[in-house]
Amino acid sequence: MLRLDGKIALITGLGQTSDDGWGIGAAIAMKLSQQGAIIFGGNRTLPAAARTKARIEAEGGTCDIQQTDVTNSESTKALVNACFEKHGRIDILINNVGKSEPGCPATMQEEIWDQQVDLNLKSIYLTTHFVLPIMEKQKTGGTVINVSSIAGLRYIGKPQVAYSTTKAAIMQFTKATAVIYADRGVRLNTVVPGLIYTPYTRALAKRYAPGGDEESYMKMRDDQVPMKKMGDAWDVANATLFLAADESQYITGQEIVVDGGITSSTGRV
Ligand SMILES: NC(=O)c1ccc[n+]([C@@H]2O[C@H](COP(=O)([O-])OP(=O)(O)OC[C@H]3O[C@@H](n4cnc5c(N)ncnc54)[C@H](OP(=O)(O)O)[C@@H]3O)[C@@H](O)[C@H]2O)c1
Repeated sequence: MLRLDGKIALITGLGQTSDDGWGIGAAIAMKLSQQGAIIFGGNRTLPAAARTKARIEAEGGTCDIQQTDVTNSESTKALVNACFEKHGRIDILINNVGKSEPGCPATMQEEIWDQQVDLNLKSIYLTTHFVLPIMEKQKTGGTVINVSSIAGLRYIGKPQVAYSTTKAAIMQFTKATAVIYADRGVRLNTVVPGLIYTPYTRALAKRYAPGGDEESYMKMRDDQVPMKKMGDAWDVANATLFLAADESQYITGQEIVVDGGITSSTGRV
């Protein structure tokens, strides 16, 4: 079940700054590799990607990495070209890069707004702009999985309007493109994580925990979830694996929400 033997998976944002725990992109790369995929990854900083590469190769997997800025057209094109030149095909594209900046329209500087749109949304336009023509030409087509957030479905307790807006847009981008490509052998779906415990979450705690109380900040996040705990990167990676594998071959233009029940609740559990 859910094997990806020999499939070429291109993943953005697979880096991670420490060996302590797993970021979502790193866990997706590892999970797909464990299921037989050959990984090609782009990340803003190379040392962070090298950490993921080393972890994958320590388990016998294959992972090439390239320094990439997914907000930049030339850099993204170079990543896609390098993967295609090496393997002659791209079967799976995972758009994982994304980040939240706090603020509402009145408080957010225009420059930050533009950065959020570029990082969270334009990046997905750019990778698909270069990858879809490749997938379309392949007999076996391809599958694209975009990483959104439940912040794109509802307000989740803090002002982050640019993040929410771009994460919502990802879902409609995916649906509209999925319909266009439905009879061309290419599927596009979105995975929608809720509150996930990652190294980035710990960085958020350092930045936002009232009085520097990181433990209370983590407990507050756990308590917001009907299951009473944050998910982890593997929960997101498992849903992504399903959408990447042939077992989901009749699913396109959909979202899988991985949130322990948050978006099904009143928010007062
Ligand atoms: N963590 C959560 O609770 C949560 C919840 C919902 C959704 N998400 C979504 O899940 C995704 C991954 O989140 P995460 O927590 O695993 O984040 P993360 O650890 O910060 O991983 C993001 C990766 O993207 C890379 N990156 C940043 N800007 C880039 C650029 N311009 N070009 C190429 N790579 C770039 C980062 O590289 P550097 O190491 O160089 O910075 C990092 O390796 C994001 O889309 C996020 O919005 C996360």
